[in-house]
Amino acid sequence: MSTTKETRKVTIPTLRAMTARAEPITMVVAYDYPSGRIADEAGIEVVLVGDSLAMTMLGQPDTLSVTMDEMLIFTRAVSRACRRAMVIGDMPYGSYTISEEDAVRNGLRFMKEGRADAVKLEGGESVAPVVRCLTRAGIPVMGHIGLTPQSLALLGGFRVQGRSAAGVEQLLRDAQALAEAGAFAIVVEAVPAEVGAALTDAIHLPTLGIGAGPRCSGQVLLWHDLFGLYHGRSPKFARRYGEAGTLFAEGLTHFADDVRARRFPTEEHTYEVPETERAAIAGVVEQFMDGRSTTA
Ligand code: KIV
Repeated sequence: MSTTKETRKVTIPTLRAMTARAEPITMVVAYDYPSGRIADEAGIEVVLVGDSLAMTMLGQPDTLSVTMDEMLIFTRAVSRACRRAMVIGDMPYGSYTISEEDAVRNGLRFMKEGRADAVKLEGGESVAPVVRCLTRAGIPVMGHIGLTPQSLALLGGFRVQGRSAAGVEQLLRDAQALAEAGAFAIVVEAVPAEVGAALTDAIHLPTLGIGAGPRCSGQVLLWHDLFGLYHGRSPKFARRYGEAGTLFAEGLTHFADDVRARRFPTEEHTYEVPETERAAIAGVVEQFMDGRSTTA
């Protein structure tokens, strides 16, 4: 495994400097302490605690029902694990659209309770005023445009975005509005590669592509897509870097076979009583058993 010895915290200036040097940023969506720790030790720069956990971790059909409280449990776990990587809490559906005050309150919960370094929210021009309020309140914001799963009903399903001139014009306006409102980076999801490149060239912010081609400032994939842990259909943009699902299933079958055949546990996995106590313990057990047989 390639790991990093670098422990200096990744910050917004780190991401800006990497973008200026045209050095690709790596980002993963991870949800718990072990995956956060592995990502951190592997040298991933940004770990997003995505609201996709509704589907990958909680088995829900979409991202709409996950709550602030649920998001905070997972965000806290990942924050505890990441010493170097920047941790971003994904603001769930309904947590930033009721009012600006509510958005700031929820953003602050991610920072104070979740110990996140920043938050992410979906949308472009329409959420720019909220992004402005959050950044003014001292909450760094990452935008998210293109395919935005919280608007699945409006988009008509998981569809590639930016396939028409009008669609691309809107994406450019969205990116511009987010940049002007103070976002420090933007996730661009499921757009043609040329559109990902155009957005990256048009705004002076790091772009994190997920199905947006190779010309974005960095790339992001979900833990469950990377390691074959999601049972639903894998998107075209995902590449598997390991078959953890198969590994777990094989391991569990092996464990069950060993237990059934009494091959586990062996002496190696078994505790012993101290020699000095052996006789006394045997006596206590014998007495107990005798008592039970006379009362039975
Ligand atoms: O929730 C999530 O997993 C995301 C990624 C698609 C970036 O927002």
